[in-house]
Amino acid sequence: MNKGLCNWRLFSLFGMMALLLAGCGKPFLSTLQPAGEVADMQYSLMLLSTSIMVLVIVVVAIIFVYVVIRFRRRKGEENKIPKQVEGSHKLEIIWTVIPIILLLILAVPTVLTTFKLADVKAMNDKKRDKDTVVVNVRANQYWWEFEYPDYGIITSQDLVVPTNEKVYFNLIASDVKHSFWIPAVGGKMDTNTDNKNQFWLVFDQKATDKAGGVFYGKCAELCGPSHALMDFKVRPLPRDQFDAWVKKMQNVKKPVVTDPVAKEGEAIFNKSCIGCHAVTPVDKRPEQARTAPNLANFGDRERIAGILEHNEENLKKWLRDPNSVKPGNKMAGTYGHLTEEQIDALAKYLMSLKVE
Ligand code: CUA
Repeated sequence: MNKGLCNWRLFSLFGMMALLLAGCGKPFLSTLQPAGEVADMQYSLMLLSTSIMVLVIVVVAIIFVYVVIRFRRRKGEENKIPKQVEGSHKLEIIWTVIPIILLLILAVPTVLTTFKLADVKAMNDKKRDKDTVVVNVRANQYWWEFEYPDYGIITSQDLVVPTNEKVYFNLIASDVKHSFWIPAVGGKMDTNTDNKNQFWLVFDQKATDKAGGVFYGKCAELCGPSHALMDFKVRPLPRDQFDAWVKKMQNVKKPVVTDPVAKEGEAIFNKSCIGCHAVTPVDKRPEQARTAPNLANFGDRERIAGILEHNEENLKKWLRDPNSVKPGNKMAGTYGHLTEEQIDALAKYLMSLKVE
């Protein structure tokens, strides 16, 4: 092949890889930029296991090269058979003991960390401290519900938590298996339909600032055609701001709508959407009845449908044809045709739903 062309190809390959891999290092998304106590512990384990693996590879490679050079067949020695060492006790013991030591170095911190990460006593304590923040996470095709049982409020898609303290999670799913994952803050955990998984995370304030105030959350279990679009966002706040947010949420009794177009939207909403979507954060219905995201603070959200930029245009796109945004979602087909006028009114109304 033409040498110039080959170089050029190699150059563009590296260029593309650089672009691609640079995308992996964002502070709001990367496990390699740990943003809390849990992520720190897990990152240390990753470093430890990677170092051990690299050490093994390097040592084996060095021995391999040494042996290939040192014991290669030389002129005049074509018929010489090297000293046979099979069954050597000394060698057998050496290459049995070394891996055992390496495994112990790996196992002790891993087991200790695993127990530490699984310690959810504080959340299951019947008389738990009222400052202990517990969130019930319920995963649905393809949206997330976050219920704060101690505060009596529910929100969807945007998880709000206090920084620099343990936040405990109850994880369940309402339809199929999903997996709750905030890559920068801690490893994933499955949400199941038949049992509750529990764990805790810490959201570091400094890391939150560095990430621009929002961490990205993902569904990490193949759950249907829109699995890859089942995103959520996390907004960690300093404790006093978090408390203020909770207060505001608790005080939303019903949406306050003044704009005339939004009022029209409210009328349409109350006719066709309210059966599934609640518009107040205090929702006393059992979870089976909560079949769609709570929209109480829809106007404050980070994204439309979890993935699109938060603006009226995208909201209209979603209302016009939800399947074009998230194939296989449960909202498509639940309401009749909306005219452009109705869509405008609904969008105005939904964007006006704010608590902040
Ligand atoms: Cu839910 Cu993948």
